[in-house]
Amino acid sequence: MGPPGAGKGTQAKRLARRFGMRHLSSGDILRAAGNSGSALGRSLKSYMDAGELVPDEIVVEIMAKAISDAPAAQGLLLDGFPRTVPQAEALDRQLAQLGRPVEAVLVIEVPDELLVERISGRRSCPACGKVFHVGSLPPPPDGRCDACGAELVQRSDDTEPVVRERLAAYLRQTAPVIDYYANSGRLVIRTDGSAPPDEVTERVAAALEKLASKA
Ligand code: AP5
Repeated sequence: MGPPGAGKGTQAKRLARRFGMRHLSSGDILRAAGNSGSALGRSLKSYMDAGELVPDEIVVEIMAKAISDAPAAQGLLLDGFPRTVPQAEALDRQLAQLGRPVEAVLVIEVPDELLVERISGRRSCPACGKVFHVGSLPPPPDGRCDACGAELVQRSDDTEPVVRERLAAYLRQTAPVIDYYANSGRLVIRTDGSAPPDEVTERVAAALEKLASKA
């Protein structure tokens, strides 16, 4: 969990690789559905381009399918979901049925003033999802992804007014999810995400290794 631009996607990809987990990003899944050209896709895109959350019932259905399609033997690293208390409650119900409880909630904390700068410098690969930043993780000079060769893009919701709306949605609807987990006795691990990417990865990985050693 963390506000837009905190580094959730960047860290989730690295941690999933390191720990052999399945990374499920609700943003990536919804963007793929949004580009499908269907009526549902157009509706999803209209919420995302406005910086608003997609309605719970739609997200819960889409993510429930992604979770149940994931291999049972592989750990799950959820990125961007749940984002409201009703989504967290629906996830708890599904995971209880599957016998796979939430083991830890990772929160990446970054001051607001850094977030807008990070998001406006982001370049993403529409094909494989690799994320770059014009300052901290520079993309190749030819503007193509060094992992798969696709042309890098700026996301359509990465304009400053939309980022401000996404931040407001985070504070209003998503921050209470952290209290939901803390108040129900789940392990909440908070990390300072303003450090360089490698440092954040090492800190979160150390916390996860400690958790795994207790399991
Ligand atoms: P989503 O795609 O989840 O976007 P977000 O939460 O706004 O987060 P971002 O992807 O913008 O940022 P991030 O934290 O992953 O940062 P990143 O690693 O890219 O959701 C988009 C939309 O989908 C939502 O607005 C909503 O409409 C909808 N949606 C999704 N899930 C939903 C749900 N559950 N319910 C309802 N609606 C939902 O990093 C950002 C930049 O910073 C990059 O350029 C990166 O290279 C750079 N960077 C990262 N870490 C560092 C660092 N440590 N130092 C310097 N630079 C860094």
